[in-house]
Amino acid sequence: MHPRDLSDHSQYVPGRGVEEVARDRGLDPDDLIKLSSNENPHGPSPAAVEAIREHADRVHQYPKSSHTDLTAKIAEKWGVATEQVWVSPGADGSIDYLARAALEPGDEVLVPSPGFAYYGMSARYHHGGVTEYALDPADGFAQDAETVLSAYGGERIVYVTSPHNPSGSTMPLDEVKAIADATAEDTLVVVDEAYGEFADVDSAIPLVDERDDVAVLRTFSKAYGLAGLRIGYSVVPEAWGEAYARVNTPFAANELACRAALAALDDEAHVTESVETAQWAREYIADELDAPTVESAGNFVLAEVGDAERAADAAQERGVIIRDCTSFGLPNHVRISTGTREETREAVERLNETLADLGLGVRA
Ligand SMILES: Cc1ncc(COP(=O)(O)O)c(C=O)c1O
Repeated sequence: MHPRDLSDHSQYVPGRGVEEVARDRGLDPDDLIKLSSNENPHGPSPAAVEAIREHADRVHQYPKSSHTDLTAKIAEKWGVATEQVWVSPGADGSIDYLARAALEPGDEVLVPSPGFAYYGMSARYHHGGVTEYALDPADGFAQDAETVLSAYGGERIVYVTSPHNPSGSTMPLDEVKAIADATAEDTLVVVDEAYGEFADVDSAIPLVDERDDVAVLRTFSKAYGLAGLRIGYSVVPEAWGEAYARVNTPFAANELACRAALAALDDEAHVTESVETAQWAREYIADELDAPTVESAGNFVLAEVGDAERAADAAQERGVIIRDCTSFGLPNHVRISTGTREETREAVERLNETLADLGLGVRA
């Protein structure tokens, strides 16, 4: 007795954790700087922590009113109907819900390469197939309609990541519109704005109201610092609203996550500080790292070091955990998440020493 044939399915490769690396290397976890998972270096919003404490003794109840309240608050924030907001366990949960709502067996999704692995993984779980469009490192991973449409062959979902993981590049809204205009009536363009708060570009959410073929993903994992709670959402076309009740996993967005997200939305000071730090740190890394970098609108910077595996491995010896992008198909690149100002300065110093030791990096 076996599971079905999963040989087509790739595994998600997460960034390495502090405890794991400290144990492997015999290092003190307190000396490690973890810049491998695009997490918020300021931690969660203090208001969210307070809300979690306050509601901890009510977790014997299913999350009902907190879910309703969060949906309403997000709808108000973006000026959309509550039915258009699909709250989910992380943006990943919304990727699953959209796949469930959109894909018939054998339908395809079109995804960026390199890109976020879960789009394809989710499509495959839902008996769909995956086609890729290539973003060009030589072009700074520039994102435009032509690049996407040249690979388009009638897929049911087209994923656009803006800011893009792992490069940090963005796609202007006119280009998103051009994709939606040029694709078939039953193609949904999903704009993943997991890093949207960090970017100086407009959200695609107003497009969702103007038209019926664009959806947007957002998360509380990054700018709001709630990655461990798994809470995110999608904003979907009006006609998709009622599908939510048919595709969502009951109560998957849990009580504490919903309460924390509600509190975090009101904590503007925390989001502002988080965004300002990321914007400062990505400039600092681009200016000071001894390797060519890609201009980033996210809370991370992609750097071309030459041998990602060696560089990431040697960086760990010096107590800095960064992401080797080989699993993204970029064996010459590492992705460095932004830390606090202090962490970022210290990490760049240690990374430059690492690159010098290995004879890697060096700016163009
Ligand atoms: C581009 C992109 N989309 C979605 C996600 C998923 O975020 P969440 O933690 O909300 O599931 C991530 C997480 O790293 C991401 O990089």
